[in-house]
Amino acid sequence: MKEQLEGLRVQALEELKTLESPKELEDFRVRYMGKKGSVTGLLRGMGALPAEERPVMGQMVNQLRQELEDAVTEKSQAVQAALQKEQLAKEKLDVTMPGKKTASGGLHPLNVVLDDIIDIFQSMGFDVIDGPEVETDYYCFQALNVPEDHPARDMQDTFYLTDNLLLRTQTSAAQARTMETAKPPIRVICPGRVYRADEVDATHSPVFHQIEGLVIDKGVTMCDLKGVLEQFAHEIYGEDTQIRFRPSFFPFTEPSVEVDVTCSACGGKGCRVCKGAGWIEILGAGMVHPRVLEMGGIDPEEYSGFAFGIGLDRLTTTRYKISDIRLLFENDLRFLEQFDR
Ligand code: PHE
Repeated sequence: MKEQLEGLRVQALEELKTLESPKELEDFRVRYMGKKGSVTGLLRGMGALPAEERPVMGQMVNQLRQELEDAVTEKSQAVQAALQKEQLAKEKLDVTMPGKKTASGGLHPLNVVLDDIIDIFQSMGFDVIDGPEVETDYYCFQALNVPEDHPARDMQDTFYLTDNLLLRTQTSAAQARTMETAKPPIRVICPGRVYRADEVDATHSPVFHQIEGLVIDKGVTMCDLKGVLEQFAHEIYGEDTQIRFRPSFFPFTEPSVEVDVTCSACGGKGCRVCKGAGWIEILGAGMVHPRVLEMGGIDPEEYSGFAFGIGLDRLTTTRYKISDIRLLFENDLRFLEQFDR
């Protein structure tokens, strides 16, 4: 049996030398060391031996098995290394080849400008809030000091859904909602879409965007309004930008103003962008009307506040010198791709 063992050993090691693939090596392992393999067979044959020889033979067979296992492992490492070398030689990577650009989405210009505006007001301590686009008559008008049948309703051509529900014409509706739920001090902005039944042209769209601002606290004055808006204008248009207040009328603020900034294209001299005026109107604002505070459950004797409504579309078209507001809503990729950042 010893000879048989030695014969098997020589045969196996010879055979191993000729193997070249992982598959062949696995077959080899099964053939010799598997359940029905030759080495395993030797162990089985030991039953026929005299009892005193069995331990010695058992040990020798196990030694052979171990030796062959080691040899297979060593060989398969060599085979793997050779395969890898071959593959590396075949697959050369030319790192000087130009890469493939993956197309990525970008922000809409309105969102680029809105993000900047939100940053500015957040740095001044404002919270950002949201309000519904389908609004009730109460929050859009009545709570803002525009009673039913009041002539001020003509200022905004409204899309009514029912007698009581409408598409909000102004983000000011968020003011009324905020006052009902929040306690002063209040410092919020509410950006969003608004709707008016306007004819579409280069400067009008039935859908556009406003950012409402509302501040209510003890002792808030028009100076605070001016300071906040001046800071805002400087951050958006640069330190040299000036602002001016023009008296105006809104039912929910008293006094009311319209706010212009010096044209960023010409610095105030007058050019095509500002139609020669040197100034561009960017928002309406004023001190919150005492009646509006009252309706919102806030005591006008104790608190005062200001509100403003920024026209996001106008800000965007003037910043990027976009000549037609319709471009903002058509989603033409050739236009939008110019604003990726
Ligand atoms: N909501 C007004 C508008 O749509 C703008 C505004 C907001 C004016 C807040 C004063 C205060 O024109």
